[in-house]
Amino acid sequence: MSTEDFRLPRSHRANERLHTMIPGGAHTYAKGDDQYPEHLAPVISHGHGAHVWDVDGNRYIEYGSGLRSVSLGHAHPRVLEAVRRELDRGSNFVRPSIVEADAAERFLATVPTAEMVKFAKNGSDATTGAVRLARAVTGRPRVAICGDHPFFSVDDWFIGTTPMNAGIPAATTDLTVAFPYGDLAATEELLSRYEGEIACLILEPATTHTEPPPGYLAGLRDLADRHGCVLVFDEMITGFRWSEAGAQGLYGVTPDLSTFGKALGNGFAVSALAGRRDLMERGGLRHSGERVFLLSTTHGAETHSLAAAMAVCATYVKEDVTARLHAIGERLAAGVREAAAGMGVGDHVLVRGRASNLVFATLDENGEPSQPYRTLFLRQLLAGGVLAPSFVVSSALDDTDIAHTVDAVARACAVYRKALDAGDPTPWLAGRPVKPVFRPFA
Ligand SMILES: Cc1ncc(COP(=O)(O)O)c(C=O)c1O
Repeated sequence: MSTEDFRLPRSHRANERLHTMIPGGAHTYAKGDDQYPEHLAPVISHGHGAHVWDVDGNRYIEYGSGLRSVSLGHAHPRVLEAVRRELDRGSNFVRPSIVEADAAERFLATVPTAEMVKFAKNGSDATTGAVRLARAVTGRPRVAICGDHPFFSVDDWFIGTTPMNAGIPAATTDLTVAFPYGDLAATEELLSRYEGEIACLILEPATTHTEPPPGYLAGLRDLADRHGCVLVFDEMITGFRWSEAGAQGLYGVTPDLSTFGKALGNGFAVSALAGRRDLMERGGLRHSGERVFLLSTTHGAETHSLAAAMAVCATYVKEDVTARLHAIGERLAAGVREAAAGMGVGDHVLVRGRASNLVFATLDENGEPSQPYRTLFLRQLLAGGVLAPSFVVSSALDDTDIAHTVDAVARACAVYRKALDAGDPTPWLAGRPVKPVFRPFA
C-alpha cells in the first residue's frame, strides 16, 4: 500500500481513548504516540511470534518487541506452557512458594557470577535496590551513573538528571554525578574529586553503539576496588542479549551487583537484583549488622512470572537463543546496509550496535541526526508492514521476515533519497516530526 493511502482510523480513535484516561496515552513514554509519525501510531490488538496486529487489522513485522522484553517472540510455546502450569496452582501466597527457590536456583545457574538473587517486577526497582544497598554498605551518599546511558530507573536519583526533572528536589539530584563511558581517566578523576563520597558506579556494561574498549570493564573493576565503591552492571538490556549469563559472562568481569529484567520473563513481569553474597545478605535475616530494606514487594513472588523466567533460561540453553539472535541481527544489518547503499543513502541510514541489539540512525543532508528524517523513515516502514522504532531482533524472526524488512527498507530509502535531493523531508512527513522522550515541555 502506498504511504499516502495508509491510514489507521481505529488506532487513531483508540489513541484518543488512551489519552483521555491515561497520562501519556501509554504506560511507558517510549511507547508514546509522539514517538511515531502523526496519525500513524498503531494501537496493538495482539501479537504472535515476530508479528503484531493493530486494531485496524494490519499485520507488522515487529522490532524492539515489548521494549526489548520479548526476545523469544510473542506467546512463545515453552514459556506459555510453564506459565499455564502455575496459573491453576495460585499466583501469590502468605509465605514463599517453592517456585521462588526453583527460580533463584535456575537464575544463579544461568548467571553463575552472581551468588544471590532477589526478584521484583520492574527493572527500576532492581537498580534502585542496588543503589540503596551500595549506599548502605559504603555509608556514602553519592551515586555515579554513566552519563552516556539513556535510562536506569524511574526513581528520583536518575530521573532528576534528565531534562524531565519536574517534582524532584535539587538536593536529591545533587547526589548523582556522572562519568563518561569508556573513559577510565575521567572516572578516576571523578572518584578522586569526591573521594570517600561515591557509593557506586552504575552503568550498562556495553551500550547500543559500542563494545567496551579493551580492558575497560576490568579497569572499572580496579577503580571501584581502589576507591572502595560498589560496581553495578545494569544488565537490563545486555542480559539475555549479549549472552544468557549477561555481559559479565561474556566479557569475564564480575560486578559486585547486577540488575536484570526485560527479556528475563519474555514479556512477563520479572526483574532481578543479583550479586555478591556478603552484600546481598545485608538485606537478609542472617547477620547481626544493620539491616537494609532490600526489594520487598507484594508481587515479586508471583509464581507464573517466575515460571516464565525459568522457561526463558531453559529455552536460551535448549535453543541456543543468543547465537540465533546474533545470526538474525547480522543478516538484517547486512541487508539494511546493502539496501541503503543501493538507494544512495548509505551515509544517512545507519545501522549500529551489537547484532542482537541493533538500532538505526537517520542523518540529514549535513550528516546530523534528524527527527524529521526519522519520521519519514518510520512512515515508509509502517506502510510497508514493518513496525521498527529500532532493529532490535527477536528469535522468532525468520528469513521471510528479514527479506520483507529489507525490501521495505529499500523502498523507504528510495523516498529518503528524494527528500535529501529536495533538501527538505517536510513534504513526506504529513504532520509533525517525532520528538525525544526526555523533554521538559510538550
Ligand atoms: C538499562 C535499563 N535499566 C533500567 C530500566 C528500567 O526498567 P523498567 O522499565 O522495567 O523499570 C530500563 C528500561 O528501559 C533500561 O533500559
